[in-house]
Amino acid sequence: MRGALVVIFQALLWPVVSASALFTVSLQESVYEAELHGDVKLVCLFSKVKSFSDLTVIWSRVEPKPAEDVYRLERGTENHNYTSAAFIKRAQLIQEQLNENRAVLLLKKLRIKDSGMYRCIVKEGDDGDYKQVTLNVTAPYTPIKKSIMKTGQDEVELSCESQGFPSAQVIWSDGQNTNFTEMSNSSTRSTDEDLILIISKLTVKRDLVNNYTCSFLVKGEIQQTATFSIPDDLLPHSSAQYAWIVAVVLVLLAIVFISVFLHRRKNGKKNRRNESKCAFLFPHSSSATADSLLTVYENRPQNCDINSEETAEKLLSLRSALMRQYSELDTNAEMKSRLASYALLSNEGQSLNISSILPDKKEIILLLGKPGSGKTSVAQILSSCWAESTTTDPFNISRLQLVFQVDCSRAKGDFFQVIKSSVSYEKPLDVSELRETLLGSTDCLLILDGYQEGNKDLDETLEWFLTERQTCRVLVTSHPGKCPALEKNVRTVLQLIQKPEKSGS
Ligand SMILES: *[C@@H]1O[C@H](CO)[C@@H](O)[C@H](O)[C@H]1NC(C)=O
Ligand SMILES: *[C@@H]1O[C@H](CO)[C@@H](O)[C@H](O)[C@H]1NC(C)=O
Ligand SMILES: *[C@@H]1O[C@H](CO)[C@@H](O)[C@H](O)[C@H]1NC(C)=O
Ligand SMILES: *[C@@H]1O[C@H](CO)[C@@H](O)[C@H](O)[C@H]1NC(C)=O
Ligand SMILES: *[C@@H]1O[C@H](CO)[C@@H](O)[C@H](O)[C@H]1NC(C)=O
Repeated sequence: MRGALVVIFQALLWPVVSASALFTVSLQESVYEAELHGDVKLVCLFSKVKSFSDLTVIWSRVEPKPAEDVYRLERGTENHNYTSAAFIKRAQLIQEQLNENRAVLLLKKLRIKDSGMYRCIVKEGDDGDYKQVTLNVTAPYTPIKKSIMKTGQDEVELSCESQGFPSAQVIWSDGQNTNFTEMSNSSTRSTDEDLILIISKLTVKRDLVNNYTCSFLVKGEIQQTATFSIPDDLLPHSSAQYAWIVAVVLVLLAIVFISVFLHRRKNGKKNRRNESKCAFLFPHSSSATADSLLTVYENRPQNCDINSEETAEKLLSLRSALMRQYSELDTNAEMKSRLASYALLSNEGQSLNISSILPDKKEIILLLGKPGSGKTSVAQILSSCWAESTTTDPFNISRLQLVFQVDCSRAKGDFFQVIKSSVSYEKPLDVSELRETLLGSTDCLLILDGYQEGNKDLDETLEWFLTERQTCRVLVTSHPGKCPALEKNVRTVLQLIQKPEKSGS
């Protein structure tokens, strides 16, 4: 009974089963992966057919819903009437492959949304079969766009941006492989092309030296990485303008540093003697620095330092000319004995060491003395002491770069012309260079011997010089009452007197 039933069923079913077995569709591959903007060929294989004019091939995308018609060949004729707009002109059947019993759908200019399940139906007459394949369209993640933004006093936010498909995991680590991912914050959005744009941010300390790497992982595989070197990357990734400012600041700092360094080297002493036309040294209250005449622009650019070799050479040449000039003034032995005959008094009448006569850097000392008190002698002792670089240097003056001793009694013209004419120099001395030197950071001493006010040109340019100069030490000798403006403004006024036993000039 049972066996009979089976036989009956078999008899009933056989024609059907054998018919579908006659015409079948099979696959080469069931999953295809292709890249955005690329092409892909989806392949269905079918049984031999007797006549291609009776062949129907229908490709449609069945997932995601709703299903869309992709391509239709009906009994040998293409029909685009049902084709979905998204696939028109991008989908075609490769005709030549039909002869090899392959229904090959060529999809061009792939889009992310083309991903899904495709079904091919192939029929010859009323016999037919179908199969389904999966297409995944992907887009590799683009090279990472890095950026750094200052977010706090000592914090910066590192940011990595890239887009691709499908979604990626962004992982952060540092030079020691510490996992910073938990501290990062990623945001995603989808682009016009349905890509996933991911921006991942990590906030770190800006002064902590470290490397931070962001990696974009797709299905566990690293597609892109980028590394920040902190603090090295802070500059290049800031705006060009910011980098500019930093560069300028660095250069300025370097200049300030060099000029401070040079100042230091040149500063530091005071002593000497000198004699010009005024004769007396008066009391001396040896604090030096500025008086109201002397507002100082500490930040003016240095003028005569080691700016260039040429400048340095000129300075040396001027220095040796001056030294030659002053070395004839005095002898060491004479100097010692003569110095002993002078006494220096402060404004308050306090007795000072003779070495207090050398002004500090940027200081002005006004040395007052009656005619015959020895001011010019002391001025000469100062300059010859400098010129001879003797071991006895009670003023510690030999460290100065330049000493100008100027006889103001014969002064003609403005201040710089007066200085110029006081120097016996083989070559013509360039006034503008002299001016730069005196105004700049060269440690020099200017002795204006026998100065008295009244020469308008000289008074005005001197006042200007005293205000503008950067470093130059100035010692002015004069008779009491001959330079009231200076006396009023200069803080350090000393008096030179001669001890009874000896006599100065
Ligand atoms: C496509 O549609 C038009 C009008 O709807 C019809 O005339 C034409 O025959 C159709 N083409 C095919 C191949 O069926
Ligand atoms: C294709 O894409 C689906 C959905 O995005 C995914 O689950 C599947 O793993 C992908 N297959 C391949 C081979 O990439
Ligand atoms: C950062 O990376 C650079 C280059 O790979 C390496 O030379 C440096 O030692 C690293 N620094 C740290 C703190 O890991
Ligand atoms: C880092 O941490 C993240 C999330 O906490 C995790 O997914 C990832 O696998 C970790 N990576 C490494 C290299 O440990
Ligand atoms: C991540 O960023 C979003 C938007 O800026 C913010 O609302 C959220 O609090 C942040 N999360 C963390 C853990 O920082």
